[in-house]
Amino acid sequence: MITINEHYLKLNSSYLFSDIAKRVEAFRKAHPEREIIRLGIGDVTRALPAACIEAFHSATDEMASDATFHGYGDEQGYGFLKEKVAEHDFRARGADISPNEIFISDGAKCDTGNFQELFSTDARIAIPDPVYPVYVDSNVMAGRTGRFENGRYTGIYYLESTAANAFVPEPPSEHVDLVYLCFPNNPTGATITHARLAAWVDWARANRAVILYDAAYVAFIRDDSLPQSIFEIPGARDVAVEFRSYSKTAGFTGTRCAYTVVPASCVAYDSSGRPQSLHALWNRRHTTKFNGVCYMVQRAAEAVYTPEGARQVREINDFYLANARLIVNAFSDLGYSCYGGKDSPYVWVDVRTNSWEFFDLLLDKAGVVCTPGAGFGRCGEGFVRISAFNSREGVEKALDRVRAALKRA
Ligand code: MLT
Repeated sequence: MITINEHYLKLNSSYLFSDIAKRVEAFRKAHPEREIIRLGIGDVTRALPAACIEAFHSATDEMASDATFHGYGDEQGYGFLKEKVAEHDFRARGADISPNEIFISDGAKCDTGNFQELFSTDARIAIPDPVYPVYVDSNVMAGRTGRFENGRYTGIYYLESTAANAFVPEPPSEHVDLVYLCFPNNPTGATITHARLAAWVDWARANRAVILYDAAYVAFIRDDSLPQSIFEIPGARDVAVEFRSYSKTAGFTGTRCAYTVVPASCVAYDSSGRPQSLHALWNRRHTTKFNGVCYMVQRAAEAVYTPEGARQVREINDFYLANARLIVNAFSDLGYSCYGGKDSPYVWVDVRTNSWEFFDLLLDKAGVVCTPGAGFGRCGEGFVRISAFNSREGVEKALDRVRAALKRA
């Protein structure tokens, strides 16, 4: 008799964003005449930057001739892209990262979900609350937690992120082996300073722990005093892995391209206490389970680093940030406390009520989709996340309807 991995049975029946999509679809079927505006899942709406499209086309043409055709590339990605990443995203900011420490992939969701495979099942993990659900669910699937009770999995150390700590948790007071951090944060939009991030790096070094640092939203940082990479912090190379993505940076949600940085000096330990290279282990995993990102997509990603590509990317992200400002202003005027939305495309709104009820209210009365904070963890209850990824017209129309609905409610 074949048996299943019963850890899957501990999971909530569906993934947060699939659950929301189902509810929205049910509403659409019940009210086919109503126009729905989506400020829920963080999916970009603007076209790819022109420089990326041009590179995409010309790479496609290369595939049309035997002389320039590309079959399998290196699983870790093409050198042309990894060199640009190392130079522009890291060395230009004083972070010592080399091209062979970069693994090009098809998404930060996949990489943040898969990286936990390298650690023992009994590794103790710390996860912020609220949090991007992938970090939690992938550890549940791997058997690193107990059951779901009172809105939390037993066995996880939860790092509470609330208005009281500006949504930036302190290092834990008890021992943990693996920590997930995400800045600019999904879902709260919070950012972290050099000093607070340095405290985390010092803690990881002192505890022989590893930090998995998700920087998928780095392209929205406008405050130059903030760190863009954990590798700007001295000593981080030995204790941190960083995830980046072109999805939000350059509109690649449908095109799929991301990368993970695993420094050669970053280690975890075997059961005899001997240090083992995470770079070697991830390389082994990546080459076994992944066959590389399509050549044209990597050429398109490379174009992000040309002067015109960089300018176009900034213009598009400034556009979303202007949407975020409109969202903050509208909800603040309605009397709600808002967080994020400054160096982040997400606005975290304190709605002072059950977050799924508020989700239903906005959908029903305004035809607007948000993400209920409770879906990100117990500390998310009482909040909703509003995404700035939409057209200006879409955001303005959504906010007009929200104003009318909430004044009535
Ligand atoms: C989100 O809305 O949190 C993200 O779009 C989900 C993702 O990137 O997988």
